[in-house]
Amino acid sequence: MNQYDPTSALNIFLVLPKAELHRHLEGSLRLATMLDIATQHGLTVPASMLRLSDMVQVGDKEPYTFSNFLDKFKTLRLFYRSPEVIERVTREAVEDAARDNVRYMELRFTPVALSRAERFPLHDVMDWVCTSARHTAEKFGITVKLIASVNRHESVDLAEQVAWLAADYQDKGIVGLDIAGNEAEFSGKPFAPIFREAKETGLKITVHAGEWGGPDNVREAIEVLGADRIGHGVRVMEDPNVVALAKERGTTFEVCVTSNYQSGVIAKLEDHPLPRMIDAGLKTTINTDDPSISRISLSTEVQMVENQFNLGIPQLKELTMNAVNAAFVSAEQKERLVALFQKGLE
Ligand code: ADE
Ligand code: ZN
Repeated sequence: MNQYDPTSALNIFLVLPKAELHRHLEGSLRLATMLDIATQHGLTVPASMLRLSDMVQVGDKEPYTFSNFLDKFKTLRLFYRSPEVIERVTREAVEDAARDNVRYMELRFTPVALSRAERFPLHDVMDWVCTSARHTAEKFGITVKLIASVNRHESVDLAEQVAWLAADYQDKGIVGLDIAGNEAEFSGKPFAPIFREAKETGLKITVHAGEWGGPDNVREAIEVLGADRIGHGVRVMEDPNVVALAKERGTTFEVCVTSNYQSGVIAKLEDHPLPRMIDAGLKTTINTDDPSISRISLSTEVQMVENQFNLGIPQLKELTMNAVNAAFVSAEQKERLVALFQKGLE
């Protein structure tokens, strides 16, 4: 649709107020900003948009595998060279969401990834991200909460440092703790004590599971790591007992269809289990995961999912309300958000 054609229909997917629970800051960098940073900091990444794109975005001709997908984050770690860069990418991630009519977003970030290139202290990274997100959210009228993320394939000791900081930063916008990374090879069990203690401090828990690993990982996330929500979790459908467990616990699934396709979880878009998850009565939501890496926005993702599975606007609204209802916010704030979205979706 040509958005400059005054006679064209409104893009309903752009206009709809949206809520997003699963988006990584490190997967949300604008390509033009990466080029700027590369030039400013003399980085030895290709000084051309197209070659840079190959390194940090999933192209049509690449293997759609999780190792190829995770490799993008390795290149991206080269870019976090100064406090200004970290503030800028945070600001732009929030601004891009607001312009896409996302009214509520939980943005997750990996402090260890952002601190690595220049060995920034983790608490400085937390300060830069929290401050920039708060200022930009106020400016653009979007509610943004932050989730600190750790990786399964990195050390338990680092995860513990991040979890303690996240607990301390709850008054600065951090609401949750997440574990991401290579689920196929690394169990979540060694992280269980950290997640238990984090939960006791008031942080909510979300766990990447049942994406590159099977339904047992979804069970582990719920029973061992105390997950309130599951990142992806699409492979839950392989075990009816885990489906029953998730329903009994009221677990919400942060589903990311394009990401699953590009990282090899499903071979074809039409194979995606989202419609079966909905039919099974699981609470599901639509998310981007890494919009820049996948070259999508939440609007384009919602539009793609609607077209692919013929969901219809009432069903899309229900998925949006699922996200609002599963937001990591206080009861009073949730009441306000629910009212805002109900009105916006009338
Ligand atoms: N980190 C960023 N995106 C991820 C994903 N889809 N799965 C696991 N770890 C991730
Ligand atoms: Zn993710």
